[in-house]
Amino acid sequence: MSVRPIVAVYPGSFDPVTLGHEDVARRTLCFCDRLIVAVAESSSQTKKTMFSVSERLELMKAVFAGQPRITCVSFTGLLVHFAEQAGARFIIRGLRAVSDFEYEFQMAQMNRELRGDMETLFLAPEVEHSFLSASLVREVASMGGDVSRFVSAPVLDRLRGLSNSRAE
Ligand code: PNS
Repeated sequence: MSVRPIVAVYPGSFDPVTLGHEDVARRTLCFCDRLIVAVAESSSQTKKTMFSVSERLELMKAVFAGQPRITCVSFTGLLVHFAEQAGARFIIRGLRAVSDFEYEFQMAQMNRELRGDMETLFLAPEVEHSFLSASLVREVASMGGDVSRFVSAPVLDRLRGLSNSRAE
């Protein structure tokens, strides 16, 4: 009897991917066989992103280059449709604080309405990442602050490249 692999999708804007996101993705590998990190072209919150979807995906691929069980892709349209096509049954989301809860709960419930057998699992990041958000990283980096403790080297290089090109 062949056992179906457990596949999960970790969706987000990832603008840019932070060490908090990386932590959540790696934790997922403890109970999933395969994780698909899904970079959304646009978010429900219709945010204007700092990086294009292809740049965000490229950074994600660089960050998880050494992880054969993690695949990085971008997607458009409904997450549940994407997850279904990808053969995933679980949606992974990081939950940092109570302030995240309302938004996350609404999305989880809506996704369940749209596809009843899709479970959203919330993972708490390492406590040292519990304050970390991509929006704060963007803000600090764009004002010349040091974000080297919050993002991996490829992301740091890209953020530095961006602020250097603005300064020129
Ligand atoms: O990192 P974010 O911006 O909080 O991620 C939000 C994201 C991309 C997971 C959410 O906006 C999403 O799933 N977008 C795809 C469109 C969709 O399925 N919308 C209905 C969500 S209930």
